[in-house]
Amino acid sequence: MCKVTGGSNYYMGREIKTAHAGLNISGGDWKKNMRYLAQALDRCKVPQKEKEEVLAIVENMKRDIVEN
Ligand code: HEM
Repeated sequence: MCKVTGGSNYYMGREIKTAHAGLNISGGDWKKNMRYLAQALDRCKVPQKEKEEVLAIVENMKRDIVEN
C-alpha cells in the first residue's frame, strides 16, 4: 500500500496477485477492508482530499485480490 501510494517503502514481497491467489477473498471482504482503511485514515486525521486519493489508488488493487 505504501509503495503504490508513493511512499518510501521498497517492497520485496510476493506479487500481490500471487499472494492472494486461491484465498477466495470476496467483494464483501474487500468492502470491509476498504472501510477499515477509511477509518484508519480518519483516525490519523488525514485530510479529505488525500484520504480520497489514497482510497482511489488502493481500490485499483481490488482486481488483483478479489476472486469472487
Ligand atoms: C489493500 C489491500 C491489500 C493489500 C495491499 C494486501 C497486501 C498483502 C501483502 C503485501 C501480503 C504478503 C505477500 C507476501 O507473502 O510477500 C499479503 C498477504 C495476505 N493477504 Fe493481503 N492485502 C490486501 C487485502 C487483503 C484482504 C482483503 C484479505 C482478506 C480478507 C487479505 C488476506 C491476505 C492473506 C491471508 C495473506 C497471506 C497469504 C499467504 O501467506 O499465503 N489481504 N497481503
